[in-house]
Amino acid sequence: MKNLIENAFDINSFRNIAHKLVDDLSDYLIESINNNSIMKVLPYKQPDETYNFWEKDYSDSPNLKINEYFSKVIDNSIHLHMPKYLGHQVPPALPIAALSDFISSFMNNATGVYEMGSVGISLEKLIIKILAKSIGMNDFAEGVLTSGGTLGNLTALLALRQAKTNYNIWKEGSKYKTAILVSEESHYSIDRSVRIMGWGDEGIIKVPVNKKFKLDSQNLNKAFEENINSGIEIIGVVANSCSTSLGLFDPLEELADFCERKNLWLHVDAAHGGPAVFSEKYKYLVKGIEKADSVIIDFHKTLMHPSLVTAVIFKDGQQSYETFSQKASYLWDQKEEKDWYNLGKRTFECTKNTMSLKVYSIIRTYGLKIFDEIITSLFDLGKQFAEVIKDRKNYELAVEPESNIICFRFIDKLKSEDELNLINRYIRKTIIEEGKFFIVQTEVKNKTYLRTSLMNPFTTINDLIDLLNEIDLIANRFELNRN
Ligand SMILES: Cc1ncc(COP(=O)(O)O)c(C=O)c1O
Repeated sequence: MKNLIENAFDINSFRNIAHKLVDDLSDYLIESINNNSIMKVLPYKQPDETYNFWEKDYSDSPNLKINEYFSKVIDNSIHLHMPKYLGHQVPPALPIAALSDFISSFMNNATGVYEMGSVGISLEKLIIKILAKSIGMNDFAEGVLTSGGTLGNLTALLALRQAKTNYNIWKEGSKYKTAILVSEESHYSIDRSVRIMGWGDEGIIKVPVNKKFKLDSQNLNKAFEENINSGIEIIGVVANSCSTSLGLFDPLEELADFCERKNLWLHVDAAHGGPAVFSEKYKYLVKGIEKADSVIIDFHKTLMHPSLVTAVIFKDGQQSYETFSQKASYLWDQKEEKDWYNLGKRTFECTKNTMSLKVYSIIRTYGLKIFDEIITSLFDLGKQFAEVIKDRKNYELAVEPESNIICFRFIDKLKSEDELNLINRYIRKTIIEEGKFFIVQTEVKNKTYLRTSLMNPFTTINDLIDLLNEIDLIANRFELNRN
């Protein structure tokens, strides 16, 4: 047994394995951005086939060929660094952010209590301060980093619940029915959070979006008035910046004014689009975000960080202590209120990954300017792609895009809506199986659309034109197969 442990810590072997791994990843990067590469974006296999592959790989006796295993992982993964990777809101990781994850795992500090993670905890405070300033909040803003947008939304909604009920719900449990108003386009994690809090169906009032698929104060007011006398107390609103499916931004300024008038907490789910605050050109899309009571922003979506790292920001920093406690004012005395360095009090996680290292590695090395470059180029490309789609007679946009999420479909005027849905589903399935591109699909008002999230700044308009040409061929094949 001891021999194996000594082996596991053999310094020369560690050095060689690590050097070889960095060489292999560098080769993968070169291959990814080589236009003539024969590597597939998605080397798709059926689930059972993939499982059998790994079952065959495993043997009971030790196998020290670790680089062989790493190569198998690289070869069989979906290749997000390839410019024709155009789907799901997960980015190709910036290399130094990935290296920061490596050092985070290796040092294995945790960020629940100060003694165990002084570096990560201090960097976390600094990152939150920088982000809050970029959002336009003042020095009273505070927050935490947590493991993903889903947990971020729950963290913020728990604080909303604590702050807006006039008794101690954390201690006494729910005494009466409470609800929030939520855009019908909101991410499912909002619905899930409400149910985790025990509010059930009645706790989430889905407000219809307007013709532009946005939550507006008119519809919000209508839903508020309809429910105000129902015996359920409405305590907050959740807005999208931007929505998951269509990538559209709700008018935050208008919604913030509504919430102020009605004394409601405004939570902005800015997991995907919040980073627009860094873009000189596109920050108008999130105008008013600084008025929200809480905001979440994912670094692992449009900011090219490896998963996961989500910021939860509270305009009034004291409220960041309310998520997992009684009213902050009861629990913390003046001295304890400044207990910012024991993050476990404010985050769901106890042993938390030192996620601040990767964010800081990026802003220390390249400055916030790199975020402007990423967002501006991805959103610009979205607009360019939309123009190309509009110019082609066999294509239709679901809506005019505002971000890097573009939904469109193949159309044929001679076909019924049902047939068009079938063709577009066939197109998406074929693209996944062939592996040259990766896109996803979504449903809008019972119509199937193809959905691209342009997450890779190496993607060019020519890659997107290639995609449309490929779709033309696939649609032709669909016809031939039917005849
Ligand atoms: C608007 C929005 N909020 C929250 C989430 C959930 O984020 P995560 O996957 O990091 O939990 C998503 C994910 O797509 C999202 O688009």
